[in-house]
Amino acid sequence: MTESYKFPDGFLWGSATSAYQIEGSPLADGAGPSIWERFAHTPGRMHNNDTGDVACDHYRRYAGDVELMRELGMQAYRFSIAWGRVLPEGTGRVNPGGLDFYERLVDRLLEKGIQPMATLYHWDLPAALDDRGGWLNRDIANWFAEYSQVVFRRLGDRVRYWVTLNEPWVVTDGGYLHGVLAPGHRSAFEAPLASHNLMRAHGASVQVYRGLNLKSPIGLVVNIEPKYAASQDPADVAAARRGEAYMNRQYLDPALHGRYPEELKEVFGEAWPDFPPQDFALIKQKLDFLGVNYYTRQVSKNDPNAWPVRVSGVKQKQHTHTETGWEVFPQGLTDTLLWVKNHYGNPPLYITENGAAFFDPPQVEGAVLEDPLRVDYLKKHLRAVHDAIRQGADIRGYFVWSLFDNLEWAYGFSKRFGIVHVNYETLARTPKASARLYSKIIATNGGVLFD
Ligand code: BGC
Repeated sequence: MTESYKFPDGFLWGSATSAYQIEGSPLADGAGPSIWERFAHTPGRMHNNDTGDVACDHYRRYAGDVELMRELGMQAYRFSIAWGRVLPEGTGRVNPGGLDFYERLVDRLLEKGIQPMATLYHWDLPAALDDRGGWLNRDIANWFAEYSQVVFRRLGDRVRYWVTLNEPWVVTDGGYLHGVLAPGHRSAFEAPLASHNLMRAHGASVQVYRGLNLKSPIGLVVNIEPKYAASQDPADVAAARRGEAYMNRQYLDPALHGRYPEELKEVFGEAWPDFPPQDFALIKQKLDFLGVNYYTRQVSKNDPNAWPVRVSGVKQKQHTHTETGWEVFPQGLTDTLLWVKNHYGNPPLYITENGAAFFDPPQVEGAVLEDPLRVDYLKKHLRAVHDAIRQGADIRGYFVWSLFDNLEWAYGFSKRFGIVHVNYETLARTPKASARLYSKIIATNGGVLFD
């Protein structure tokens, strides 16, 4: 193995999860319900009417789970904090039971030498705030700042990396435009407002953080799906550009450049509002890093019927697709990381999520669970990360999605993303072959990928 095939010294290897997807006991110890609690308990919203009532029972089993991470050699763990556990009504009254849980988790991680990366918002808005307009109410920037401050004050000395929001695009696209995720609205007029308020909330949270003079880096996590035009036809080229503006630049441009892409006016037409110019000073805060979540790409074709972006994906039959129907395309990860480097001034990057749902063979208790497709996915995507590093992207770490099989939102438990299998009857955790591989990757700082 030659020198150049190592990952940089200090490269951080971890895994990621989120609160509603793994914790269970969503109303325990004084927590207030979230929009996901409501959504999941609305008949017909979730596959199989699954809910997060138990999920992986991580809320009660967190100590064993941290021990498992240690056994696997994880250096870092990205988890999210449920807003409604900390502030049951979203603002005002603080619930000590909720904060205590995250404090116990963080302390346990540190004790085991695992660096905590905490996300403040991974989609589980307190239901009480949804009743006040949720992400459509401009006051939410203040509500989120208030919540952030409570958490920063309690855990700011121990959490090693902070993330304000996870994937604002999904919050808006799924929650306010297409209605497949909580809170289930369908409105082109609401979507830009929700996005804008998400970004204002992000800015307000970073401002609070800076005011407290805390030392750990803070950043924003976005999901980026590179768009490749299906042909040289100018209509397809323009469609790819609209898709990129809508999904990828809608969040990065305001956060880093202080403005929206011009194309969004074309996408939303009369539904695109005139935003107060002073909002951009709030949104554009100095960030210490960006988190990039990467799953797949889109080969984009102009499609007048696909409202409102007028683009649809062309299926690439020659490639493997995951259980969620996503094309496996590792080169897209290299391209994405270099695209961020070139468009946004080479910021420090973490890949905060990358992984795949595949049908795993039935598990034999006690035997290693083979998941060859996920093993292959992991290897190829990590080589793609390495490629981007060699081409100059400043990539500091990688978090596999996910540590556990878990509640895949509206898909319920039907899609398994974990490197650790979870038996939903016994709640037993069994590392899959991909987890064993990942342990070796960590132990060799990626060297094993090139043997
Ligand atoms: C989200 C995760 C989700 C994963 C797979 C990301 O959009 O942050 O919560 O489970 O993708 O769909």
